[in-house]
Amino acid sequence: MVNQSLSEPVDLQKLTSKEDFLAFQKRATDRWTRLWDGSDVVVSVGVGSSSIARGALDVLDRCRSLAGESAVVREVSGNGAFWMEPWIELKRPSEPPVVYGPVTADDVRGVFAGERPDLAVGVRAPDAFGSIPPLTAHPFFKHQTSLISRNAGVIEPDSIEDAIARGAYAGYFKVLFEMSQEEAIAEVTAAQVRGRGGGGFPAGVKWESGRKARATPKFIVCNSHEGEPNVYKDRHLHECDPHRILEGILIACISCGAERGYNYIGGEYPLAIRRFRKAVADAERLGLIGKNILGTGKNAALRVRTGGGAYICGEASALMFSVMGVRGQPRTKPPRSVEEGLWKRPTVANNTETLANIPDIIVNGGEWFAGYGTEGSKGTKLMTVQGPMKWLGVVEVELGMTLRTILDDVYGGMREGYTFKGVQTGGVSAGPLTDRHLDLPVDFDSLADVGGMLGSGGWVIFDEKVCAVDFARYLTAFNRYESCSKCVPCRLGNPALVEILDRIRFGRGTLDDLTLIQRTSKHIIQMSLCGLGQVAPIPLIGMIEHFEEEFRQHVIEGYCPSGTCPISAGSLSMAAAD
Ligand SMILES: Cc1cc2nc3c(=O)[nH]c(=O)nc-3n(C[C@H](O)[C@H](O)[C@H](O)COP(=O)(O)O)c2cc1C
Ligand code: SF4
Repeated sequence: MVNQSLSEPVDLQKLTSKEDFLAFQKRATDRWTRLWDGSDVVVSVGVGSSSIARGALDVLDRCRSLAGESAVVREVSGNGAFWMEPWIELKRPSEPPVVYGPVTADDVRGVFAGERPDLAVGVRAPDAFGSIPPLTAHPFFKHQTSLISRNAGVIEPDSIEDAIARGAYAGYFKVLFEMSQEEAIAEVTAAQVRGRGGGGFPAGVKWESGRKARATPKFIVCNSHEGEPNVYKDRHLHECDPHRILEGILIACISCGAERGYNYIGGEYPLAIRRFRKAVADAERLGLIGKNILGTGKNAALRVRTGGGAYICGEASALMFSVMGVRGQPRTKPPRSVEEGLWKRPTVANNTETLANIPDIIVNGGEWFAGYGTEGSKGTKLMTVQGPMKWLGVVEVELGMTLRTILDDVYGGMREGYTFKGVQTGGVSAGPLTDRHLDLPVDFDSLADVGGMLGSGGWVIFDEKVCAVDFARYLTAFNRYESCSKCVPCRLGNPALVEILDRIRFGRGTLDDLTLIQRTSKHIIQMSLCGLGQVAPIPLIGMIEHFEEEFRQHVIEGYCPSGTCPISAGSLSMAAAD
């Protein structure tokens, strides 16, 4: 086989029965075993949006041209560890796979020749190989619990055979052949899995309402919009394991009695969209989507829709208008979407990560899942922490891990020359936390008491050089831009807050402005129609609460301690690009 993956689909013919699927599964598993136990040299290159930006495609090309006729070269996804990208995994016959990174295209020849041990990060095996430790011994991986990300960097996302060999569609198979709708939903309920899109609503409760709704047809919507700054966990999931998401949607369709599922993906994610569409096409070819699936008489269709870039289209009711081809704006509730969603029919909307957890819950049982996490927050959470940290990337940690462990152990602490000042939690929807809060458990509830929020897991670490006023202005301005303008408090209130903050940044603020911020914020929070306006001022209020002295220095002394705001000569304000 010449530079061709052993996992490349060879025979995707329609499967029409239970036995057909089991035979395909066996073939895929045998093929997978041969890939790793055989005498082939296997070269895998982690290709994702982040590694492409750092030259991964050049590395892949160079691997293809240098690997030799008998080697298998695979395009796998990234594994979340952005700090070691681009990386190559090289498996020689009778040796475990060794991961090298970061590498450039020019390093490839040396890696193949065994001349670059300095680039070896770890072995993808439980034990060390000579002096090379297991990858999982690295602190970045050691503290992670890889449930939904276990295929990241391992399978070729474009290969349905790889995915099936690693367990894909086993949960779907159970729901199709072995479980009633009630039994499947009972497992989701027992798992106590809460929505990963920010709100933390129990998925089992929503599914049961969807199942019980009488009107037909019903729909499932997977919310993969992810328009918040600094959140890219759903993009990562799509790029790594699109079949896991697809399987979660299909299980939801069968369990709730919906004949069509939609995946609404942010238009800024071309690779995620391409890989997910490929997954859908292959699953359709195999007969896992369509009519009379595997001869069961059950039907499930799947559509992909892409967003145009408006953050508000992540709000579930706005998203549904967008899916229907109407301008994406939230609506008042009730009725809830499970009663009247797409085309005024019952629609169950869940976040990508929520749905990605479902296949394992069905296979292993709800109790298994509930064994991870804390009393009120079960399972794991994908996090995308950003800032001047030693190791950056997407991680999956057990809920309940302290903030300190996540920042110091998983992300390796602050880079040299940077001093921790705070962490902006909950994307643009919550307040910052400071070093006083580092020992709090990270879960759905614990951070709320101190003004923080888990949200969708996109957090920003900021250091002493970041001005709290300027950062608050950036967060407020984001919500101002992204307001859909449907209701007055949000449409006019957020620009007013930005205006006040600009007065302060330019040295023309007064103490009265701090009172005015509180009054204006109260009105926006209490009177806005949807979640965007209802939380838009929270990051600003949190910044004032935790860094009040800094705000007072701006208005009383006309001084920006970090030298960021326009009050200071040569400022480096985040608002400079406005
Ligand atoms: C302004 C705004 C943006 C949102 N963006 C997203 C998003 O990008 N992805 C998402 O899953 N949920 C988003 N949500 C939450 C959704 O409205 C909805 O609660 C969620 O998709 C439900 O799925 P879950 O229960 O699995 O979390 C957003 C909410 C608001 C108010
Ligand atoms: S709160 Fe803001 S985003 Fe939400 S409906 Fe009103 S104007 Fe639109």
